[in-house]
Amino acid sequence: MPYPEIRPRRLRRTPALRRLVSETRLDPAELIVPMFVKEGLTEPRAIASLPGVLQHSRDSLRKAAVEAVQAGIGGIMLFGVPAERDPAGSGGIDPDGILNVAIRDVVSEVGDATVVMSDLCLDEFTSHGHCGLLTPDGEVDNDATLGAYAEMAVAQAEAGVHVVGPSGMMDGQVGAVRRALDAAGHQDVAVLAYAVKYASAFFGPFRDAVESALEGDRRAYQQDPANLRESLREVALDVAEGADMVMVKPALPYLDVVSAVRDAVDVPVAAYQVSGEYAMVEAAAANGWIDRERVMLETLTSIRRAGAQIILTYWAVEAARLLRERY
Ligand code: PBG
Repeated sequence: MPYPEIRPRRLRRTPALRRLVSETRLDPAELIVPMFVKEGLTEPRAIASLPGVLQHSRDSLRKAAVEAVQAGIGGIMLFGVPAERDPAGSGGIDPDGILNVAIRDVVSEVGDATVVMSDLCLDEFTSHGHCGLLTPDGEVDNDATLGAYAEMAVAQAEAGVHVVGPSGMMDGQVGAVRRALDAAGHQDVAVLAYAVKYASAFFGPFRDAVESALEGDRRAYQQDPANLRESLREVALDVAEGADMVMVKPALPYLDVVSAVRDAVDVPVAAYQVSGEYAMVEAAAANGWIDRERVMLETLTSIRRAGAQIILTYWAVEAARLLRERY
């Protein structure tokens, strides 16, 4: 038996060697934490299917935003949970709606110390739980919804948000939002387009987080998990319509899509490690089946390696702290 002349193991021998040759590094500045705020709460509330994630009160949200800044993370993505819903989702547009109020709170608390973003979608605000307005037959009306998104974008910009994240998968939503922002004098508000969003069962726990009682499903507007080339088409459209950054969602089951999108465009690419991805790991870890912290960092590293330079994750603040302590 001849001995091997080339030995890749040499560079794996010590932590210092491994650190030196590491091809992918995680930086807290690239992590964004999604946060939920519920109208009328006086105390934050746990979410059963998202252990460790809270439905915030306005007060606890302000405090959590400050902690996120102290942890050095790149941004906060805000989601509102209204006390009342209607078919038009008017709470999303109302300047006194919970999401717009929360944007004001957080921006007044943290200013420019981190990037404040808001989900731009109707599903948290509609009584039927869909991302848009319905036709009399119960279909999601694309073009009518664009008008609502345009108004919502302007309301969020007036509240002071730095970046809006249109996530409803309506055709033309990025262009509609961009035009509305520009017409209202908000040329500097950026658009992070949820360009690629699959009709995924991994969003399950999110529905608990926002208390959405979705009637039916979203397959008539979110993408079929079977498709990859369709994602490149969605991304190209969003960039042409003025998206400043594009996002792929979910993340871990779609790393091939992240990688293809990274190769296809020059704008920053984000990936959203969604509620179900987080909940799976938390549930397995709670049973003692996996090492929670190692799996957390392994998933984030893998998403980064696939080509996402920005990651939305419910672990953002904790991961940022771990990265500071350990590395
Ligand atoms: C739409 C939106 C959803 C998520 C983020 N934005 C739900 C959906 O599209 O069905 C899911 C995020 C997660 O699962 O963590 N407002």
